[in-house]
Amino acid sequence: MNKVTVIGAGNVGATVANVLAHKDFIREIVLVDIKAEMAMGKALDTWQQAPVDHYSSRIIGTQDYQMTADSEIVVITAGLPRKPGMSRDDLISTNAAIVNSVTSSVLKYSKNPIIIVVSNPLDVMTYAAYKVAGLAENRVIGMAGILDTARYRAFLAEALDVSPKDIQAILMGGHGDSMVPLPRLTTVSGIPVTELIAMDKLQAIVDRTKQGGGELVKLMGTSAWYAPGAAAAQMVEAIAKDEKRIFPCCVKLNGHYGLKDVFVGVPVKLGKNGVEQILELKLSPDETALLHQSAHEVRSTMDVYDNLPSQPA
Ligand code: NAI
Ligand code: 2OP
Repeated sequence: MNKVTVIGAGNVGATVANVLAHKDFIREIVLVDIKAEMAMGKALDTWQQAPVDHYSSRIIGTQDYQMTADSEIVVITAGLPRKPGMSRDDLISTNAAIVNSVTSSVLKYSKNPIIIVVSNPLDVMTYAAYKVAGLAENRVIGMAGILDTARYRAFLAEALDVSPKDIQAILMGGHGDSMVPLPRLTTVSGIPVTELIAMDKLQAIVDRTKQGGGELVKLMGTSAWYAPGAAAAQMVEAIAKDEKRIFPCCVKLNGHYGLKDVFVGVPVKLGKNGVEQILELKLSPDETALLHQSAHEVRSTMDVYDNLPSQPA
């Protein structure tokens, strides 16, 4: 791939750029931040890591959107992270202004990129980028499900004393406490996890997963970046290499699962066109109710966004 831009050179953005550089399939990675010197410094640091870790991707830091021209994929991480005591929704108005502005700047120089949104509150920021960008809906995708599933898989691997590589799982819903893990569809190398762990232990892991972001905020005073950065980079790779991988991602639903005009996490196929398919699983009535409740909560944050004073028409 020729060019990928990462907006926001903070903890998550710099990690996305660094992980992508290590994967070594992109000719040029542009790291953009309003703090230009921070972006330049982190880009230079990652470039100086290239001889040690053996990659060739060039990485450039800037605050100038002209440098992002003709990006094929853009990852948006600009925005404030959560602080202790803050919910993701507390961030709506501040981060909406940031996501609106960076999205329109990106679109001035790249006509038809695929946008991956990371900024929180994730589902509503994905909606914001979609609205401002005016791109086809398969080209605006939110990153949350890969991270939430990774946390769930890591907790399970620890509890079962197995490699996290062997745990397959899917998770749906919004990126928040209303997310819907699906233990029924979790396996360890194909073995249903429900055969390997007691239900009370599994439920405790599901509960910990739902609070997974908050657990890290409490520990560090800011939100996580290694796993989030790697998760966003994995989405870039799946799209750039047309891998047709199945991941839980935040996308616009159009009647899928009985939900319409809402951005929420569901299993999708990622390939060169972005979202190539939304997979509709057969959910139980209880699972459907949880997904609908989660979508309802996301819809209310989308309404908050729609009613902010300075919205794009
Ligand atoms: P950070 O504070 O380390 O970095 C954010 C960067 O955005 C800063 O360098 C800041 O200068 C930059 N920025 C602010 N306004 C900008 C603008 N208008 N243009 C360009 N850059 C701008 O924060 P961190 O930890 O990197 O988190 C970034 C976002 O990602 C937060 O909203 C956070 O909540 C979210 N996040 C989402 C996750 C997910 O699963 N979707 C996981 C982890 C974080
Ligand atoms: C996370 O889940 C805060 O969304 C961020 O780590």
